[in-house]
Amino acid sequence: MLNNIVDNNIFSKVEETVAYIQKRINNEPKIAIILGSGLGELGEEVKNPTIIEYKDLPNFPISEVEGHKNRLVFGNLENKDIVIMQGRFHYYEGYSQSEITFPVRVLKKLGVELLIVTNASGAINTNFSPGNLMIISDHINFSFSNPLIGKNDNRLGARFPDMTDAYTKKYREIAKQSAYNIGIPVKEGVYMMFSGPNYETPAEIRMARILGADAVGMSTVPEVIVASQSEMNVLGISCITNMAAGVCDKKLSHKEVIETTKKVKSNFIKLIKEILISLIE
Ligand code: HPA
Repeated sequence: MLNNIVDNNIFSKVEETVAYIQKRINNEPKIAIILGSGLGELGEEVKNPTIIEYKDLPNFPISEVEGHKNRLVFGNLENKDIVIMQGRFHYYEGYSQSEITFPVRVLKKLGVELLIVTNASGAINTNFSPGNLMIISDHINFSFSNPLIGKNDNRLGARFPDMTDAYTKKYREIAKQSAYNIGIPVKEGVYMMFSGPNYETPAEIRMARILGADAVGMSTVPEVIVASQSEMNVLGISCITNMAAGVCDKKLSHKEVIETTKKVKSNFIKLIKEILISLIE
């Protein structure tokens, strides 16, 4: 679908996809985790998994980005019923933001109340280093689009959703406490989304710093906007994979992003598990 062309039929498509899923699963997850580039391995830790490939799901797009598996994993992790999205959709793949956030609407309809979003990002803040984990405190939508553009369907949520506490404070505190419990240092900061797919220029990164961003990436923001409209709680965790363009002399590459996520993966998995342990359902 072309960028920004409105799909007036989202609600019935969500119902169709949810009906397909509900026939295949035997848990009712209240927690969903969207795994970003290189972080998909957490999906392998799920106990009693029911796996549904995106290609089998009615109305689901498919992601072609290296490091994404394209499947939903339902099951149990640290005694919590969860669903994991191994692979997300990106605006730069050519989908509209309404399309890339369709899975969030499906998760909401399935009964998910807490959405944990993860991603890889470049650090603008010079106190951060590659390998750090950053709890997202807020975001700047610099993608020049919005998943809610178009006629609003009130069954999906408000026309003008509030974003004051989009990254739910309570869950940020739980995440920080969990990190402390297991001795993993975490940063906290503002995530800014550029559409990509090119990495930013040094001038764009200088601008982003002036605007108040700590890290930059190409995802997550549309999903969080839809989660806010859907009145879901959100926890965002960003894996700092590199210093953003021009912050140091190094050139940027997807290879470096994936290599850093490989190194951080075990800390990332430990933190998510500790957070799950801390949650009272
Ligand atoms: N910029 C945008 N997206 C990213 C980066 C970056 O530096 N690192 C990982 N994802």
